[in-house]
Amino acid sequence: MPVPDTGDEIAGLATTVNATLDRLEGAVERLEGTVAQQRRFTSDASHELRTPLTGLRTRLELALDDPADTDLLRTLRDALRDADRLHQIVDDLLALARLDAGVEPDRTLLDLGALARAESRRRQARVPVVVDADPDVPVLGNRLQLARAVVNLLANADRHASGKVLVTVRARGGKAVLTVTDDGPGVPPGERDRIFDRFTRLDAARSRDAGGSGLGLPIAREIANRHGGTLVVEDAPDGGAAFVLTLPLADQTAHEQDAGRRWARA
Ligand SMILES: Nc1ncnc2c1ncn2[C@@H]1O[C@H](COP(=O)(O)OP(=O)(O)OP(=O)(O)O)[C@@H](O)[C@H]1O
Ligand SMILES: [Mg+2]
Repeated sequence: MPVPDTGDEIAGLATTVNATLDRLEGAVERLEGTVAQQRRFTSDASHELRTPLTGLRTRLELALDDPADTDLLRTLRDALRDADRLHQIVDDLLALARLDAGVEPDRTLLDLGALARAESRRRQARVPVVVDADPDVPVLGNRLQLARAVVNLLANADRHASGKVLVTVRARGGKAVLTVTDDGPGVPPGERDRIFDRFTRLDAARSRDAGGSGLGLPIAREIANRHGGTLVVEDAPDGGAAFVLTLPLADQTAHEQDAGRRWARA
């Protein structure tokens, strides 16, 4: 509304009304943005679920149409793989939904190096993984979430590496820094933000492996952020990718003195 240049109460009122309307307009725009984002997310998620579901259905239909001429064991094995894939996607979607809902999970004092060692030992890897961790790198965090972030980085590195993966864990300047480095093709500088968006896969990677949904990195970054940390990708010294997870270093002594808490080794 026009503001008269009378400088009186009416002018003041008009200015206030305009400011309020501006704020309201901003709020509506933000809400519209969130709704559009949510819609895109739902449509992307449905699409991701539909592919393995269609595969599964076709497989079962073909086998039922002509059971005598079907390798039933193979059909079952393939069906199980489709089901695993569906399970994985639903699991990732649930993890994201929980993170989006802002549910605060339990936090304990963990040694980030021990966690990295435990998770890399647990995984079956295509290429050898070396973990080089400083002795005590305490962080206050949710074990399941941090393990999930580390596993997502390990899975990517293993998929893209040519021959080796290196994990380092260091305490530096009040920060706990975990780096997962591989000797694969690396991530082009222009794509280094985009790969953290939900459902983003770079084309070269998609042809190499049709399995991924593009949810691993967004989940890992969200977990890092929820812990007051960051996750970025850099160049590895020998040309591959180096994913750097930085978390606040916990004050170990303060927690050791706290009778309610124990130094929990991962
Ligand atoms: N270590 C890496 N080297 C090269 N490119 C990578 C690396 N890690 C991730 N990327 C690229 O980033 C994309 C997104 O990774 P993200 O982990 O989010 O999804 P994904 O691995 O494709 O699928 P998901 O993790 O859901 O199974 C990958 O598709 C790949 O193109
Ligand atoms: Mg991944």
